[in-house]
Amino acid sequence: MKFIPDLAKLSLITEKIRQLKKRIGFVPTMGALHAGHFSLINQARKENDVVVVSIFVNPAQFTPGEDFKKYPRYLKRDIGFCRKLGVDFLFLPDKSDIYPPGYSTFVNVEVLSDVLCGASRPGHFRGVATIVAKLLNIIQPDTLYLGQKDVQQAIIISRMVKDLNFPVKVKVVPTVRQEDGLALSSRNANLSKNERSGAVVLFKALRLAETLVSNGQRNASRIISRMKQLIEKNKQVKIDYIAIVDQERLRRLKKVKPRSLIVLAAKIGKTRLIDNTIIDYS
Ligand code: PAF
Repeated sequence: MKFIPDLAKLSLITEKIRQLKKRIGFVPTMGALHAGHFSLINQARKENDVVVVSIFVNPAQFTPGEDFKKYPRYLKRDIGFCRKLGVDFLFLPDKSDIYPPGYSTFVNVEVLSDVLCGASRPGHFRGVATIVAKLLNIIQPDTLYLGQKDVQQAIIISRMVKDLNFPVKVKVVPTVRQEDGLALSSRNANLSKNERSGAVVLFKALRLAETLVSNGQRNASRIISRMKQLIEKNKQVKIDYIAIVDQERLRRLKKVKPRSLIVLAAKIGKTRLIDNTIIDYS
């Protein structure tokens, strides 16, 4: 595995790889790698000749007062994981290389970025779209791998790729869960023991919604209120939103349709967690 500290070097390397007609799979991360990232990297490894992983805690996607400083950083451990998983190039850019003095250009995917998590975290998806656009321009991979857990992010990036004609395929890889069902997230590391055991209620609420739908319930507000009742039994959990939306425009639906998305965000203590499920029935 090779470490690439600067943009110019990475551009040169990936250009050479493309000349050799090798396929490049790219997994962008903010580090604190866990089994969710491993599954993205494994998929990229299976489907490409060369795998590039980036680790960059992107300041532009943290809104004022958010946990940029407290975001978990375990670089040494992450490097070990990447080695084991057969990553070819680990890109560790410097903030000043990504956002040099005078940096002024941002990508905003309209409408999709203003709802759900975007409503509580204004500017967050502008920061995400900007860094991913920059990384795609630098690396020019064949395929970009993103996780289903961050479904709004995946939908926004897919929209950006389409709208701005990035020559890359976006693959969304299923959420990896712990044994009790909690979705893996780097932020889980910030949960106390008590908060961690309570956090599973988010997964249970999604399972409850699936059961209600499979028993014939189609009314979105009834499903959401049953989910709220369940979650609110746990006093440590503060719901930010629960919504049933379509996958294309993230519009709230009154009636559940096949392939609609149930999304939720909640704070457990100081830690904000998100999760989702795709309603699967025909
Ligand atoms: O999902 C993440 O970890 C980040 O939002 C991403 C895609 C690496 C951009 O910083």
